[in-house]
Amino acid sequence: MEILRLVLLLLHLLGFAALFGGLLAQARLPEKRVNDLMRDGAGTAVLAGLALVGVLEAGDGDVDHAKVGVKLVVGVVILVLVMANLRKERIPQGLWALLLLLTVANVAVAVFWSPVHGSY
Ligand code: HEM
Repeated sequence: MEILRLVLLLLHLLGFAALFGGLLAQARLPEKRVNDLMRDGAGTAVLAGLALVGVLEAGDGDVDHAKVGVKLVVGVVILVLVMANLRKERIPQGLWALLLLLTVANVAVAVFWSPVHGSY
Protein backbone atom coordinates (compact mmCIF):
# COMPACT_ATOMS: atom_id res chain seq x y z
CA MET A 1 0.00 0.00 0.00
CA GLU A 2 2.92 2.31 0.78
CA ILE A 3 4.36 1.76 -2.73
CA LEU A 4 0.96 2.65 -4.21
CA ARG A 5 0.78 5.82 -2.08
CA LEU A 6 4.26 6.85 -3.19
CA VAL A 7 3.53 6.18 -6.88
CA LEU A 8 0.30 8.21 -6.63
CA LEU A 9 2.12 11.00 -4.78
CA LEU A 10 4.73 11.07 -7.58
CA LEU A 11 1.94 11.30 -10.19
CA HIS A 12 0.22 13.96 -8.08
CA LEU A 13 3.39 16.08 -7.92
CA LEU A 14 4.09 15.61 -11.66
CA GLY A 15 0.52 16.78 -12.33
CA PHE A 16 1.08 19.87 -10.19
CA ALA A 17 4.44 20.50 -11.94
CA ALA A 18 2.85 20.29 -15.41
CA LEU A 19 0.00 22.64 -14.43
CA PHE A 20 2.37 25.13 -12.76
CA GLY A 21 4.90 24.87 -15.62
CA GLY A 22 2.20 25.37 -18.26
CA LEU A 23 1.09 28.54 -16.46
CA LEU A 24 4.54 29.94 -15.64
CA ALA A 25 5.87 29.39 -19.17
CA GLN A 26 3.42 32.07 -20.32
CA ALA A 27 4.34 34.64 -17.64
CA ARG A 28 6.11 36.97 -20.08
CA LEU A 29 3.79 36.33 -23.05
CA PRO A 30 1.35 39.17 -23.88
CA GLU A 31 -1.39 36.64 -24.71
CA LYS A 32 -2.25 33.71 -22.48
CA ARG A 33 -4.13 30.52 -23.28
CA VAL A 34 -4.92 27.11 -21.76
CA ASN A 35 -2.22 24.77 -23.10
CA ASP A 36 -2.02 20.96 -23.04
CA LEU A 37 0.37 21.00 -20.06
CA MET A 38 -2.22 22.84 -17.94
CA ARG A 39 -5.01 20.48 -19.08
CA ASP A 40 -3.07 17.26 -18.41
CA GLY A 41 -1.50 18.63 -15.23
CA ALA A 42 -4.80 19.72 -13.65
CA GLY A 43 -6.47 16.42 -14.56
CA THR A 44 -3.60 14.32 -13.23
CA ALA A 45 -3.24 16.34 -10.00
CA VAL A 46 -6.95 16.07 -9.16
CA LEU A 47 -7.35 12.39 -10.07
CA ALA A 48 -4.14 11.30 -8.32
CA GLY A 49 -5.14 13.45 -5.33
CA LEU A 50 -8.49 11.68 -5.05
CA ALA A 51 -6.77 8.30 -5.36
CA LEU A 52 -4.31 9.34 -2.64
CA VAL A 53 -7.18 10.10 -0.28
CA GLY A 54 -8.59 6.66 -1.03
CA VAL A 55 -5.27 4.99 -0.23
CA LEU A 56 -4.83 7.03 2.98
CA GLU A 57 -8.40 6.22 4.08
CA ALA A 58 -7.78 2.52 3.41
CA GLY A 59 -4.49 2.70 5.35
CA ASP A 60 -4.10 3.34 9.09
CA GLY A 61 -3.40 7.11 8.78
CA ASP A 62 -6.56 9.13 9.41
CA VAL A 63 -7.30 11.89 6.89
CA ASP A 64 -7.95 15.51 7.79
CA HIS A 65 -11.23 15.87 5.85
CA ALA A 66 -11.33 19.64 6.16
CA LYS A 67 -7.87 19.91 4.54
CA VAL A 68 -8.79 17.44 1.78
CA GLY A 69 -12.12 19.24 1.31
CA VAL A 70 -10.37 22.57 0.73
CA LYS A 71 -7.91 20.95 -1.70
CA LEU A 72 -10.74 19.20 -3.56
CA VAL A 73 -12.77 22.39 -4.01
CA VAL A 74 -9.71 24.36 -5.19
CA GLY A 75 -8.58 21.47 -7.44
CA VAL A 76 -12.03 21.11 -9.06
CA VAL A 77 -12.33 24.89 -9.60
CA ILE A 78 -8.94 24.82 -11.36
CA LEU A 79 -9.97 21.82 -13.48
CA VAL A 80 -13.33 23.35 -14.47
CA LEU A 81 -11.74 26.70 -15.41
CA VAL A 82 -9.06 24.93 -17.44
CA MET A 83 -11.52 22.65 -19.28
CA ALA A 84 -14.03 25.48 -19.90
CA ASN A 85 -11.34 27.61 -21.60
CA LEU A 86 -9.46 24.85 -23.43
CA ARG A 87 -10.65 25.79 -26.93
CA LYS A 88 -10.33 29.57 -26.54
CA GLU A 89 -7.69 31.37 -28.68
CA ARG A 90 -6.67 33.34 -25.61
CA ILE A 91 -7.74 33.80 -21.98
CA PRO A 92 -7.85 37.06 -19.97
CA GLN A 93 -4.76 37.92 -17.93
CA GLY A 94 -6.98 37.85 -14.85
CA LEU A 95 -8.00 34.22 -15.43
CA TRP A 96 -4.35 33.22 -15.96
CA ALA A 97 -3.40 34.96 -12.70
CA LEU A 98 -6.33 33.32 -10.86
CA LEU A 99 -5.27 29.84 -12.05
CA LEU A 100 -1.69 30.52 -10.92
CA LEU A 101 -2.93 31.79 -7.53
CA LEU A 102 -5.22 28.78 -6.98
CA THR A 103 -2.44 26.34 -7.91
CA VAL A 104 0.00 27.97 -5.48
CA ALA A 105 -2.77 28.09 -2.85
CA ASN A 106 -3.28 24.31 -3.09
CA VAL A 107 0.45 23.71 -2.68
CA ALA A 108 0.44 26.00 0.34
CA VAL A 109 -2.49 24.07 1.84
CA ALA A 110 -0.65 20.78 1.19
CA VAL A 111 2.55 22.02 2.84
CA PHE A 112 1.48 24.43 5.58
CA TRP A 113 -1.87 23.03 6.78
CA SER A 114 -0.16 21.11 9.54
CA PRO A 115 -1.33 17.53 9.65
CA VAL A 116 -2.71 16.23 12.92
CA HIS A 117 -0.27 13.56 14.21
CA GLY A 118 -0.35 10.49 11.92
CA SER A 119 -2.76 11.95 9.34
CA TYR A 120 -2.67 13.89 6.13
C1 HEM B 1 -4.13 21.43 -8.60
C2 HEM B 1 -4.38 20.99 -7.45
C3 HEM B 1 -3.41 20.42 -6.44
C4 HEM B 1 -2.11 20.76 -6.14
C5 HEM B 1 -1.27 21.83 -6.80
C6 HEM B 1 -1.66 19.88 -5.08
C7 HEM B 1 -0.38 19.89 -4.53
C8 HEM B 1 0.08 18.96 -3.60
C9 HEM B 1 1.45 18.90 -3.11
C10 HEM B 1 2.58 19.83 -3.51
C11 HEM B 1 1.53 17.83 -2.24
C12 HEM B 1 2.78 17.32 -1.48
C13 HEM B 1 2.80 17.96 -0.15
C14 HEM B 1 3.77 17.30 0.78
O1 HEM B 1 4.10 16.13 0.55
O2 HEM B 1 4.13 17.94 1.75
C15 HEM B 1 0.21 17.25 -2.17
C16 HEM B 1 -0.10 16.15 -1.39
C17 HEM B 1 -1.37 15.63 -1.32
N1 HEM B 1 -2.50 16.06 -2.00
FE1 HEM B 1 -2.59 17.55 -3.34
N2 HEM B 1 -2.69 19.04 -4.73
C18 HEM B 1 -3.78 19.35 -5.53
C19 HEM B 1 -5.02 18.77 -5.51
C20 HEM B 1 -5.38 17.77 -4.64
C21 HEM B 1 -6.70 17.18 -4.57
C22 HEM B 1 -7.90 17.58 -5.45
C23 HEM B 1 -6.66 16.23 -3.58
C24 HEM B 1 -7.76 15.31 -3.08
C25 HEM B 1 -8.98 15.57 -3.02
C26 HEM B 1 -5.30 16.22 -3.05
C27 HEM B 1 -4.86 15.38 -2.04
C28 HEM B 1 -3.56 15.28 -1.61
C29 HEM B 1 -3.09 14.29 -0.64
C30 HEM B 1 -3.96 13.25 0.05
C31 HEM B 1 -1.72 14.50 -0.46
C32 HEM B 1 -0.76 13.79 0.50
C33 HEM B 1 -0.31 12.54 0.06
C34 HEM B 1 0.60 11.87 1.05
O3 HEM B 1 1.51 12.48 1.57
O4 HEM B 1 0.36 10.69 1.20
N3 HEM B 1 -4.55 17.16 -3.71
N4 HEM B 1 -0.65 17.95 -3.00
